[in-house]
Amino acid sequence: MASEASPTEAREFAAGLRSLLDWLHLTGEGARNEVVTLVQETLGPERLQQSVVARELPPLEHVNLQTALDAWTATGGRSVEVRGVVLPPHYAGIDLQQLMTGEGLPPVRLSAPSVVDLPNGPDSTLACLRTALLLVTDDAGRYVLLVQGPSEHEPRLRVEVAGLPVQQAQAVLAEIDRLRRELNVYRGRLVEVTQGPMGQVVLTFLDPPELHRDEVVLPAAVLDRVERHALGVAAHRAGLRAAGQHLKRGLLLYGPPGTGKTHTVRYLLGRMEGYTRLLLTGRSLGTVGSITDLARDLQPAVVVLEDVDLVAMDRSFGPGGSPVLFDLLDAMDGAAPDADLLFVLTTNRADLLEPALAARPGRIDVAVDVDLPDAAARRRLLELYGRDVPLQLSEDDVTGAVGRTEGVTASFLKELLRRAVLEALHEQDPLDRVTAVHVSRALDDLLDSTQAVTRTLLGVGGGAAVEGDGHGPGLPHPVVFTGSYGPFRG
Ligand SMILES: Nc1ncnc2c1ncn2[C@@H]1O[C@H](COP(=O)(O)OP(=O)(O)O)[C@@H](O)[C@H]1O
Ligand SMILES: [Mg+2]
Repeated sequence: MASEASPTEAREFAAGLRSLLDWLHLTGEGARNEVVTLVQETLGPERLQQSVVARELPPLEHVNLQTALDAWTATGGRSVEVRGVVLPPHYAGIDLQQLMTGEGLPPVRLSAPSVVDLPNGPDSTLACLRTALLLVTDDAGRYVLLVQGPSEHEPRLRVEVAGLPVQQAQAVLAEIDRLRRELNVYRGRLVEVTQGPMGQVVLTFLDPPELHRDEVVLPAAVLDRVERHALGVAAHRAGLRAAGQHLKRGLLLYGPPGTGKTHTVRYLLGRMEGYTRLLLTGRSLGTVGSITDLARDLQPAVVVLEDVDLVAMDRSFGPGGSPVLFDLLDAMDGAAPDADLLFVLTTNRADLLEPALAARPGRIDVAVDVDLPDAAARRRLLELYGRDVPLQLSEDDVTGAVGRTEGVTASFLKELLRRAVLEALHEQDPLDRVTAVHVSRALDDLLDSTQAVTRTLLGVGGGAAVEGDGHGPGLPHPVVFTGSYGPFRG
């Protein structure tokens, strides 16, 4: 009984079989395929003899290709008809040659063009063609483009031209390339680079952080140095170039977790309006090669390489499979010196990077030690993170708190205030005031010796500061406290 199909199942099976047969009849051997017919009729016998010229593009260019095609289509004297082409599931791509001859053709059909909606700005998207024929009429006569965007089965992005002599076809592709570069949607934007489930590069637009200079608590000399190196070039770009000096530069921020390296980078990014800003962290650091190419096209640009120590020694996915750190250094080295390109690297483990950087000098021009806050800085941090808190602390209370927090990180002080607010809320809700009692209770809790892991995560050295590598309080180093997994989204 279990093995027999019910009447409904049998009917469904028959219906399925019928549609399969219809499909085969329509597209199978012997029948003229409608897509092939369209291409052949559009081109005519003579143009069908021309070679197909193809251009392979990085998949992340899909949205730029569509932007370029839209502009190209709108150019005066040109008319373009778009026809969608569908392939049954599980078929990889097709090529234009197959559509011209009908040979080796998978069962393709015409349809409304299918599109994928891709972000082309922080708040907008663009419908991008997946597999489509563009039937073009312009000065060059009548010809055909086939566009294929990346799909689940075929990660490539491709444009092909048929019906033109090779040189003219190349000129069409060159014009589309030019528009792609000129209208590039990533230019001047802040973009986070991640990797999708298939290892593909995914670019996400972010809103630039709005951090005021006062919110970055660092010794004045340190912040000045960072600013001068990152921002100072812009004003003197032409002068530097004229004097034959390079613009490409590398900045390394190193120091214990929670001292404000990411924070400082966010501040810089907020100030670097007009720059193309590309953020790489974690596994996406492996894409540094292609991202540097993009940055070069879109200069002035900043490429931020966050927490490079975490993957520095991982093998990349590239053909060579070299450590990511070497790819990184190669990419920095490969970019033209007169490109206005800034690389910002952050790390908790300068000791790990040092040998590689020393062996290949010239990549990093300025290395800045972002250290634990001294007493004056801790006082400023209490003020900064207490500015929206109804704090009632006497001068002595503040001095006491500053004294007790010797050896902690900046992020610890931020957390301290949050805890103090929570302590106060236990007594009063709505919050009335936060006093020395609350701060001191929060401190007791945070410094409690039984909370070793919490303290490590927040970066506390107690009194036993500076052990071994000179990077502070002997923390188990690869521990990172960046606040969250998307420190730039905050
Ligand atoms: N120097 C600093 N000045 C002001 N706030 C800081 C500073 N350092 C850290 N913070 C605060 O702590 C949070 C975590 O610091 P983060 O910059 O992620 O540390 P790092 O990147 O050095 O590990 C920041 O988002 C910020 O709110
Ligand atoms: Mg960080």
